[in-house]
Amino acid sequence: MIGSATASYQIEGAVNEGGRGASIWDAFSAIPGNIVNGDTGAIADDHYHRLESDLDLMSSLGLEAYRFSIAWPRIQPLGSGEPNQAGLEFYGRLVDGLLARGIRPIATLYHWDLPQALEDTGGWTSRETAYRFAEYAAIVGAYLGDRVDCWTTLNEPWCSAYLGYGSGAHAPGRTEPLAALKSVHHLQLAHGLALRELRRTVSTDAEYSVTLNFHVLRGDDATSAEAKRRIDALANRAFTGPMLRGEYPADLLEDTAGITDWAFVLPGDLEIIHQEIDFLGVNYYSTTTVRMWDGASPRENADGHKDVGGSPWPGSENVEFQTQAGPYTSMGWNIAPDGLEELLVSLSEQFPELPLVITENGAAFEDAVEDGAVHDDERVDYLRRHFAAAHRAMARGVDLRGYLVWSLLDNFEWGYGYSKRFGIVHVDYDTQVRTVKDSGLWLTTLIRERRLP
Ligand code: FCB
Repeated sequence: MIGSATASYQIEGAVNEGGRGASIWDAFSAIPGNIVNGDTGAIADDHYHRLESDLDLMSSLGLEAYRFSIAWPRIQPLGSGEPNQAGLEFYGRLVDGLLARGIRPIATLYHWDLPQALEDTGGWTSRETAYRFAEYAAIVGAYLGDRVDCWTTLNEPWCSAYLGYGSGAHAPGRTEPLAALKSVHHLQLAHGLALRELRRTVSTDAEYSVTLNFHVLRGDDATSAEAKRRIDALANRAFTGPMLRGEYPADLLEDTAGITDWAFVLPGDLEIIHQEIDFLGVNYYSTTTVRMWDGASPRENADGHKDVGGSPWPGSENVEFQTQAGPYTSMGWNIAPDGLEELLVSLSEQFPELPLVITENGAAFEDAVEDGAVHDDERVDYLRRHFAAAHRAMARGVDLRGYLVWSLLDNFEWGYGYSKRFGIVHVDYDTQVRTVKDSGLWLTTLIRERRLP
């Protein structure tokens, strides 16, 4: 399946409508300095009000699948208790509209908009949040489970834990190493509990998954092997270990021993987390080059994330993230399609039975509308080279089931606000006019002809 992806807070707007409660991103983006230009998701792409025309847009692009996320605070405004009917109905209309147009809905339960009321009682540092998430999953499963046959629990728990509670670049903006590691665990507990609830409540013969953002590690310094091992443990194996093998990697526990003994992992948790899934969602944008910092030379901090002071690398703060060779996207991320091939092959070697879906890949560039068109040649080239890389991986035996381009629409790019455009469709934020970019037309041709245009 080939299609495109979005996330609720990045496109919906209408933050005070339909009974929606506040999320951590409403609170975080209200604080001056957190988001470039003081942007917030209050209006975003106004997708909430433009649902029908956005569905027609997806249809005109010929998308086979659409990956969207459900805003938890639309379903449970305070993060617990009775469901808010208007919120459920919004996603019901979205799903019905997709099905009516022959587009497969892929529903993500959590793409970062935690109800603020739950952050107020500890957020992901609290085990209770995982239990609340299971209740939310059961509500959504019961309501949409007769129509949605493809489910993802979490999007990029790496970001939720380490950027949300470690570096502070993302909501809720906390900078506590212990909080970040507790969040790593409670997010995964939430994943396991939610899968159980989905399986209990969904009535279609559905596929279940989780989406992870992997760090594809490079480095040829004498110390790079140690740096790669550390970041692989903290960023990659911290999630694939519990979810796919039922254990935390021993070296992760050692690397973080100065912060915690992981006593918050209770007996039975790993059994809950280690659930069978039908495919692994893979988000890929660029590579990461590391070595150990010698403590003396000026230190590079080019890990591709907004540098806001706190560290997203608890216990491995002495890893240096080196500037990588270009070309770059406007995020400053290096363009490295080989990294995608390498990642897909590596995952299928590590987990031979597990099909893969690329749930996000795409690029931000400076786009301009000229005479009703956007000639985003760089994005077309980026996508062509990454689709080719995915194809090479398939030729090498990778069981790749889908490719979802990030993103359908230009949108609220978290800490960067509206300053970065990832869409295959341009959005004029003053008028909300949508203009299909050349990359969108390119994707349409790819889907129709089943070959690289
Ligand atoms: C990923 C996020 C997605 C988007 C892209 C650029 O980390 O899942 O929401 O911001 O990066």
